[in-house]
Amino acid sequence: MPKLPSYHLFPTAETASKTLAAEIGELVSSRAAAGQSAVLGLATGSTPIPLYEELVCLHRNGLSFANVTTFNLDEYLGLERKHEESYWHFMHTHLFDHINIPPGNIHIPDGTVADENLQGHCLDFENAIVRAGGIDLQVLGIGRNGHIGFNEPGASPEVRTHVTSLNEVTIADAAESFDGPQNVPARAITMGVGTILDARRVVLLAFGGSKAGIIKRALTPGITSEVPATYLQLHDNVSFFVDADAGAAIEPSSLPE
Ligand code: F6R
Repeated sequence: MPKLPSYHLFPTAETASKTLAAEIGELVSSRAAAGQSAVLGLATGSTPIPLYEELVCLHRNGLSFANVTTFNLDEYLGLERKHEESYWHFMHTHLFDHINIPPGNIHIPDGTVADENLQGHCLDFENAIVRAGGIDLQVLGIGRNGHIGFNEPGASPEVRTHVTSLNEVTIADAAESFDGPQNVPARAITMGVGTILDARRVVLLAFGGSKAGIIKRALTPGITSEVPATYLQLHDNVSFFVDADAGAAIEPSSLPE
């Protein structure tokens, strides 16, 4: 039975990010106390930056990431790790360089894999998630077009990690960072919707007025491939953490109790 994600409205991006960081901190430390690992699925983009700042803060205050394994949602195809816009670079700059996660526990799709090896690379990524025991908590952002990861409008719900072509809205949104749309990579590797839906818990963050319309649509009953975030209605443990601007179009009375 489809079910709407639970909706949590916060006054600011910082308060939402602190709440999620505290949940992640609890997960990581309770697993460590039991001698177990915690597996996180991570996103890039502007949205999770305050979350990563908060996780770095928790680490400075004593939280160890020695038992953490991570899988990133996606990576642009054709970018070297050292490229400033690569997600490898983003994750190291904002999080991994500042915490004690063992480098071997970090998994980010490799944007430099040759075309003939891409299928194998995507399969290896999926197998690594299974070997790690599956993702405990997946962090998501959302594109203005409703994409999750780089599962663009038209994506199917069963698909696993794969190569995809970026949609024109996604390219337009990335154009500024790449100094023009012509420099934005045309393709990316992304976890599929099926991969995301296998996570035991999913938290989608959305901040700012540019996300208000798509948040309203994602929280309206009705699943459509045109808005991939609506596939989250197929999962029974999804929360949306939204700031006041991103939640501006939501009427609380329209949501289930
Ligand atoms: C990033 C990702 C994307 C972003 C989305 C929102 O790893 O998978 O789906 O979460 O494009 O991007 P921002 O946060 O920059 O608005």
